[in-house]
Amino acid sequence: MSKKIDTSSTDVSSKSGPPEIIGRAVTVIGEEIDGDALLVIVEDTEPEVEAPEGDAATPKAVKRRKIVITDSIDFGDELEDARSIQDEAIPVIKDFMSQASNGSIDDVDAAKAIVEKVVSSIFRNQDSMLSLIRVKNEEQYTIGHSLNVAVMAIAIGRQMGFSKEKVKLLGLSAIFHDVGRVLVPEALLKKSGPLTDEEFSAVKKHTSLGSELLGKCSALPEEVAKVAAEHHERYDARGYELGLEGRDIALFARVVAIADVYDAATTNLPYGETLKQADAVKFIYDRGGKQFDKRILEKFLKCLGVYPIGSFVRLSTGQAALVRGQNRSNLLRPKVLVLFDKEGLRYHRTFDFDLLQEEDKHVVSAIDSSEFKVNVDEYLV
Ligand SMILES: [Fe+2]
Repeated sequence: MSKKIDTSSTDVSSKSGPPEIIGRAVTVIGEEIDGDALLVIVEDTEPEVEAPEGDAATPKAVKRRKIVITDSIDFGDELEDARSIQDEAIPVIKDFMSQASNGSIDDVDAAKAIVEKVVSSIFRNQDSMLSLIRVKNEEQYTIGHSLNVAVMAIAIGRQMGFSKEKVKLLGLSAIFHDVGRVLVPEALLKKSGPLTDEEFSAVKKHTSLGSELLGKCSALPEEVAKVAAEHHERYDARGYELGLEGRDIALFARVVAIADVYDAATTNLPYGETLKQADAVKFIYDRGGKQFDKRILEKFLKCLGVYPIGSFVRLSTGQAALVRGQNRSNLLRPKVLVLFDKEGLRYHRTFDFDLLQEEDKHVVSAIDSSEFKVNVDEYLV
């Protein structure tokens, strides 16, 4: 068994190229997540730390580096840009889906450009693009789903402390993850009620079909095809089609798997129940260590919050409020806009509560936004 030793006095260079410890080149052997910190684990070729007596393991020098995530502009100031990026993305996704249905994907320049824009928006303020993923279009599920999953994956990647380049690659992998669906008979994808074993096997094939298609596109890095192949694998090895387990599943595929299930669970689809945003967060969180990688789930939760932006909550006062912002230091106490009194009557004047400051009030439960005839967009800015 290898042993990791924290040599916190050593330094890892942040410039590109191999990292260095005290002037010597080392190899990155892995990354770990710890709270808000990303731990970059490196192996020194000339170990400077002796293994404890009797321990035959090779000692490894380990450096911990904290990545600080901050937004450079306000939610409201980014929202307009986020909306236009969303509008711009739809025809781009339609185009590569249509290329896929014709048997090959050749032109991916527009997809790369849109992913860059999403990444830039999320690095400026992640909540703006994340607030838009609640806008669902069931008719064109695969199109909207591809974008929503990319947005969430990018936000999670940023939260994990990935470099911008790595986040772009993750976003590109995410936007293409379900491309194989266009090669599955549409009647199966739209079938309400349970699928037969044979039908389910045909649906499962969208992973290998998509991966094969993406693997043939020389303009796409190999990670993209890998994510298509592995996004339905489960941490406990009960996924499909390869039956991989834990960290044998590609890191990007483990991120995409979480975003994929969240988006599907909150969309009104012919199969399965549609969950409220907060219930979907809980549903996913409860599957940490089983279906999903627990450490990535922590980052997912940090991005979306317990009560995602745009969802409705019942306060301890009985009032109903719209979630307008997160408090990253306490995800149970978001920033809300109170719209309805405890009888369900709409206030003429709305008022803001930052629940972090309002100690005498708290969220009692999430409530279904369809209960209210409210144009959420109007209130988010
Ligand atoms: Fe899928």
